[in-house]
Amino acid sequence: MKFHALTLFPEMIEQGLKPGIIGRAVEKGLISLNTVNIREYTRDRHGKVDDYPYGGGAGMLMQAQPVYDAWRAAVGDRKPRTIYLTPQGRPFSQSMARELAKEEELVLLCGHYEGIDQRVLEEIVTDYVSAGDYVLTGGELPAMVMIDAIARLVPGVLGNEDSAEEESFHNDLLEYPQYTRPEVWHGKRVPEVLLSGNHGKVSEWRLEQSKERTAGFRPDLYEKYREKQRLILRLSKDKRNNIHIMESLARGKGEILYHQGGDLLVQDRASSVCMLTAEKAESAGRLAEMLPEGTRWVIVSQDFVRELFADKGCGLFGSCSQYLYTNKVFLPVRYKEIRRLTEEDTPYVTAHYAHDTEEYVRERVRAGVMYGAFSGERQIGFIGIHTEGSMGLLYVEEEFRRRGVAEALEAFCANRLLEKGFTPYGHIMEGNTPSEHLQEKLGFYRASRCVYWMSIT
Ligand code: ADE
Repeated sequence: MKFHALTLFPEMIEQGLKPGIIGRAVEKGLISLNTVNIREYTRDRHGKVDDYPYGGGAGMLMQAQPVYDAWRAAVGDRKPRTIYLTPQGRPFSQSMARELAKEEELVLLCGHYEGIDQRVLEEIVTDYVSAGDYVLTGGELPAMVMIDAIARLVPGVLGNEDSAEEESFHNDLLEYPQYTRPEVWHGKRVPEVLLSGNHGKVSEWRLEQSKERTAGFRPDLYEKYREKQRLILRLSKDKRNNIHIMESLARGKGEILYHQGGDLLVQDRASSVCMLTAEKAESAGRLAEMLPEGTRWVIVSQDFVRELFADKGCGLFGSCSQYLYTNKVFLPVRYKEIRRLTEEDTPYVTAHYAHDTEEYVRERVRAGVMYGAFSGERQIGFIGIHTEGSMGLLYVEEEFRRRGVAEALEAFCANRLLEKGFTPYGHIMEGNTPSEHLQEKLGFYRASRCVYWMSIT
């Protein structure tokens, strides 16, 4: 991932991010950091980049020309997302970091003085972001905060193969307390359960601690967590039909946008996919009006809701049967040459998988959730986890089919999900009988209702 920072103080950002994890990630080539000194692009003989505001008022403004030329120098003819750091922007958050970590290239524009000439902002800026409700002297510190928060989500940066996001389970809760050696310090003992070696008990204790902390420090977050848990419990009465919504909520990605009786609208923040159930056609219509701007996909599983969207001109992308694996036991993996894919393996995947865009596939590999089957050095198939959490992206080369490779890939992928405490599930396109047989062979259950992927126009 490539960051460009447009700034009057490049050394502040370079030096600030040099030591530690981010500096090491730059050295390893996992991310790149290009600082551009806006002053070098001024056409003013005295190196001036600011001037008085038209109409009067306190302070100076950065001029359009040097900002624009610095931006062009960084991006050439490309048009990457360009973020202007300003207290007037959308507050920066973990979900924004997650969304931005999917980009290959980002520009961060750091303002100074009283701001920047509006005309250049209109031409180059795609997002206005604030570090919080306070005013700093410039955008450098917020830019550094954003680079740090986004870069740590890039697989490999934290030193583990999993992406930080895919790994965390209790996304809605604050961290539990942690302890290291010695066992007794200032007369205080490490909690006994942590020395027990019982992983189940340790997880339980940590979850309880996280809940207690969140309830104490962030009652707002805790109430949201409890609301999700109540909803998950309700949905679990029809787990097979609701697993897609339950998993999104349980993984801390799903946000409840509306919930009243059987009317429910959830958005999975990782993928922006919405999931909707309704009691009646009327309420479905109301929920459809609530879809956040820019929503591309809605998953529905009731025929009358599908019809309502079709009447609105939305396309039915696919009717799928939903399968889930409710057993907690790991599945046997009978084909042994399977491993997690890395960037170098991506061209094979993009060459053999036509259902999604190349960019999407590349992002899934970077997220550390694509797995490949090999025959020696040769890649022969793959599987992965979609952004909203379902298993999919399955492919096996013709000459290696009917040898248990697909089964092993599915089992391998499902085991990765089980390791994290998730419930493996997937959507099989109507008519894909071999894939349906495969689910059944592996012990997956089929939901009674179809899920319909509607593309929003
Ligand atoms: N520039 C000055 N203050 C800022 C803030 N709070 N967030 C982002 N950029 C800023």
